[in-house]
Amino acid sequence: MNPELDRFNLTGPSPVAVLARRFRDALEAAFGAQYRWVDPAIRPSQHADLQANVALALAKVLERNPREVARELVDRLDVDDVVSAVEISGPGFINLTLSGEWIAEQLQRIAADERLRVLRAVQPQKVVVEYSSPNVAKVMHVGHLRTTIVGDAIARILEFLGHEVVRDNHIGDWGTPFGMLIEHLLDFEGGTDAGLRAFVSDTGAFYKAANARFKSDEGFAGRSRRRLVALQQGDDETLRYWQRLVDVSLRSYNALYERLGVRLTADEAMGESFYNGLLPEIVDELEQRRLAVPSEGALCVFLSDFKGRDGKAKAVIVRKSDGGYNYTTTDLATIAYRVAVLRADRVVYVVGDEQKEHFELLFAVAEKADLLLGGTVLEHAKIGMVTDPATGGKLKSRSGDAVPLSALLDGAYERAAAKFDESGRGERFDAETREAIIRDVAIGAVKFADLLVARSSKYPFDLERMIAFTGRSAGFVQYAGVRMKSVLRKGGLTPESATGPIVIGTEEERNLALHLLDFGITLEEAGAAAAPHLVAEYLYGLATRYTAFYEACPVLKEGVDEETRASRLALCAVTLRTLVTGLELLGVPAPDQM
Ligand code: ARG
Repeated sequence: MNPELDRFNLTGPSPVAVLARRFRDALEAAFGAQYRWVDPAIRPSQHADLQANVALALAKVLERNPREVARELVDRLDVDDVVSAVEISGPGFINLTLSGEWIAEQLQRIAADERLRVLRAVQPQKVVVEYSSPNVAKVMHVGHLRTTIVGDAIARILEFLGHEVVRDNHIGDWGTPFGMLIEHLLDFEGGTDAGLRAFVSDTGAFYKAANARFKSDEGFAGRSRRRLVALQQGDDETLRYWQRLVDVSLRSYNALYERLGVRLTADEAMGESFYNGLLPEIVDELEQRRLAVPSEGALCVFLSDFKGRDGKAKAVIVRKSDGGYNYTTTDLATIAYRVAVLRADRVVYVVGDEQKEHFELLFAVAEKADLLLGGTVLEHAKIGMVTDPATGGKLKSRSGDAVPLSALLDGAYERAAAKFDESGRGERFDAETREAIIRDVAIGAVKFADLLVARSSKYPFDLERMIAFTGRSAGFVQYAGVRMKSVLRKGGLTPESATGPIVIGTEEERNLALHLLDFGITLEEAGAAAAPHLVAEYLYGLATRYTAFYEACPVLKEGVDEETRASRLALCAVTLRTLVTGLELLGVPAPDQM
């Protein structure tokens, strides 16, 4: 472990964090201050709750016997209040069994805290989280769905941890297609209003039609080129048409964001066009510093650290031979803006992994050009592909195009409704409640399935598996929450009024309680790595442990003594609050009944 890890709040209730601190003190006391930051390597253990593996690695450095090193460490280790047993086993593992009283005490403190003892970051940062970022001229596809869902969860988690988050939707609202799109709009049969409607309802078809004319009709192509120049020169009329295309698109994005329950709007988006005015300046600067040099008429930055297949340094074009700027130029200006104006400490780009190289080169140029000033950290939070369960390839519709997002969500809703009614649940609710639950289940299923997979891994869009009430699904987790709510209701208590005291008796109670202690550290890790799947996985684990507890430990049944009942109700209450908070951070709804 190194001082870097101090960004984790080592005072939180997680046993790993608490013990790590005690180990640091022991390491220093036994071997000297220079060993304080050696990683104690505390891991789950098969023989106890946890084991520390530090003695093995340290013995190598010290050239000593690992068991002896472990012995010396244990002698200095002050953990009597935390563990009930410490044992050295095998070649020098230190096995640690946590004490039931300590666990109960920690849980009691979590229960008494509004934030469930999730501490705020010691050093709050300003973080720009860039996500969704659809392209106005193209169809918003399932890849954008994923960055929207994952990015939103990252933003929520960082915010909850006390960081200042700027949600940034880098909409592709500028570029060469707009010349032909505007001309096609102006020629549209039925007028421009009908054209705009056609454009949003099937952007793909509109684009294709415009493109086909561009290729086959010289006159149209010429007009489109002139229109593009007019747009770039800021011609009023042209800008008005461009703005209308953008506006109808933003409206359709907003409808989708609302349906998905993400905290993003397209209205305040700073898309590519926002940076347009900054491009000449940034390119000038690169040129003056001799970072950008002419090459075959274009202006390029050569990166000697990146070699192409031919062994030559890779070139990034920042101004094309026709004088136009490109995607990368805009991204450089965007970085300058985020660093110098927004003063971001960290920028998280939640974008498909197929743009990996673009970002590697971009970040390298930014670094070379000193755009990062005080050391803003740029990271590409890569998003893996959503595949077709039938083919394993990219998810496509029958016509070979990307599947429109609204169609995917409609499909999810239909599946959820069918499953819900099949299970006999449909009849138990009035029409309005039934519909609200189905919506929560459908949206929850799509989002949770997406979030449960590490963001850079691909996964198949398999509605059948997503929409289930068992297994690794939102339905299972949501249903566990419904059970908790119902137990509390029947016990005559609320999540706030069920305060225990908590006593840890059975194995199921212990497993559940231990998991609850790790909520904060899980969020910290998820925030640091921009990895919401850690939270989804945690919540699935929580629901699993709660279900085991629910089946093994009666709460309201006759014969359960009063202390046990009060303790179990309190356990239900903390579990519920943790579950609800966690689902909220993922943007997954937690229905009251289902
Ligand atoms: N609009 C791009 C796309 O859909 C994603 C934008 C990524 N962000 C960036 N700063 N380049 O492919």
